[in-house]
Amino acid sequence: MTQRTIDITSPNFISAEGLRDGISWPDVFGNKHPLALEIGCGTGHFIIERASQQPCTNFIAIDIYNKGCWKTCKKIDAAGLPNLRVMRTEACYLLESGFSRESLGAVYINCPDPWPKKRHRKRRLVNRDFLQTILTCLSPGGDFYFSTDVADYALDVAELLAATNGFKNQLDQQVVHHLPGYPTSKYMQRFLDKGQPIYFQHQHRDLASGAIPITGMEKTVPRRGFRSRWPRAHNE
Ligand SMILES: C[S@@+](CC[C@H](N)C(=O)[O-])C[C@H]1O[C@@H](n2cnc3c(N)ncnc32)[C@H](O)[C@@H]1O
Repeated sequence: MTQRTIDITSPNFISAEGLRDGISWPDVFGNKHPLALEIGCGTGHFIIERASQQPCTNFIAIDIYNKGCWKTCKKIDAAGLPNLRVMRTEACYLLESGFSRESLGAVYINCPDPWPKKRHRKRRLVNRDFLQTILTCLSPGGDFYFSTDVADYALDVAELLAATNGFKNQLDQQVVHHLPGYPTSKYMQRFLDKGQPIYFQHQHRDLASGAIPITGMEKTVPRRGFRSRWPRAHNE
């Protein structure tokens, strides 16, 4: 069954069409505050709270899920947050076409699709190339946050981060179950309510790492397994 695509008319929704010609983020927000990106915002619970905590940072929340983008926009409209926008787009494509090198102060990924079956793990969003792309987009000292409810996904990402030159762990251990002040996403809450732990990681782009090679920034097209096909909305 195909779900109806909701037309999103919120002023806080940015059409992904603009990515073709290049987006000026200072023009979008009307200031040059640092930029932060949440990948896979779902229905926006996390990012609404994070953007409220950090009014001097401009947040972009993306998802490929039309209804999630719509719900997130509704929340922003109701809260009147000036520093948060939503875009319906695929993460790899956006990172390649929407941000210049070292332009992001933070990247957040919370409870990405788990792809629990072993044969499907290659579909997981976070892999070696993806981390390299994130590193390229992060400013020196920029933050990378990753949370998941899936232990082996947490372990894989921890190993990849440890093996990627340019990331520096910011926690006592590489993976923790509590991150004080970090907002709870809808999925996190769902697992916490069932008594299941969340695995958090927080890394910096290491100031000492120097220039980041351009690997991972090759022309990217949305890949299979990322649920990247969706009906076109009028406002895309
Ligand atoms: C399991 S949900 C978690 C939603 C939210 N982060 C939370 O914790 O409540 C994962 C979300 O990531 C989105 N997603 C998956 N792959 C994506 C991609 N490649 N680019 C953008 N969003 C993606 C899905 O549409 C979905 O809304």
